[in-house]
Amino acid sequence: MNDTLKVLETRRSCRSFKPDMVKEEDIQAVIKAGTYAATGRGLQSPIIIAVTNKEKRDEISRANRSINPAWAEDFDPFYGAPVILIVLADRNVPTYLYDGSLVLGNMMNAAESLGLGSIWIHRAKEEFDSDFGKQILKELGIEGDYEGIGHCALGYAAEPAKAPAPRKENYVYYIK
Ligand SMILES: Cc1cc2nc3c(=O)[nH]c(=O)nc-3n(C[C@H](O)[C@H](O)[C@H](O)COP(=O)(O)O)c2cc1C
Repeated sequence: MNDTLKVLETRRSCRSFKPDMVKEEDIQAVIKAGTYAATGRGLQSPIIIAVTNKEKRDEISRANRSINPAWAEDFDPFYGAPVILIVLADRNVPTYLYDGSLVLGNMMNAAESLGLGSIWIHRAKEEFDSDFGKQILKELGIEGDYEGIGHCALGYAAEPAKAPAPRKENYVYYIK
């Protein structure tokens, strides 16, 4: 198996991160991998907001948690990750949802290749449809019709990755 295939197969979602900040060059490498994802008609509909500011990261965590009222006040939906890479995409591009999803996939696989833990955390849509998220976009001077696609929580894993679930039967059909 070559290195790329190994990364694709061994990447697992991390649900326990060390608080240590990720090396800047590794954050940049993960982001760059995201920006080179394929996009429909090459329109590059997504944008990435890279959050390393602890105060802002904690605010976003609280906003994300509040989307599910069943969660306890002290639950951190980002599992302690110090870096949150938020992907949004331009709703006016027909492939925006696929484009944004590929960006997230690239970033998680790039993280694995660098020995970093990562996980896709959901509810970015609700977050950025709310006044809270709109204010973040405003502060960054981001205009346009952007939908939150997902967050890539990134950091150093605090525990070894769990074994993957067995792949389901009938995942693949062949027409030969
Ligand atoms: C679209 C999407 C949304 C997800 N949202 C969350 C989430 O909000 N919280 C979480 O803990 N995991 C989330 N995950 C991670 C999945 O639970 C995880 O990918 C799945 O259990 C398979 O495990 P693996 O990534 O280790 O292969 C999400 C994954 C995807 C693809």
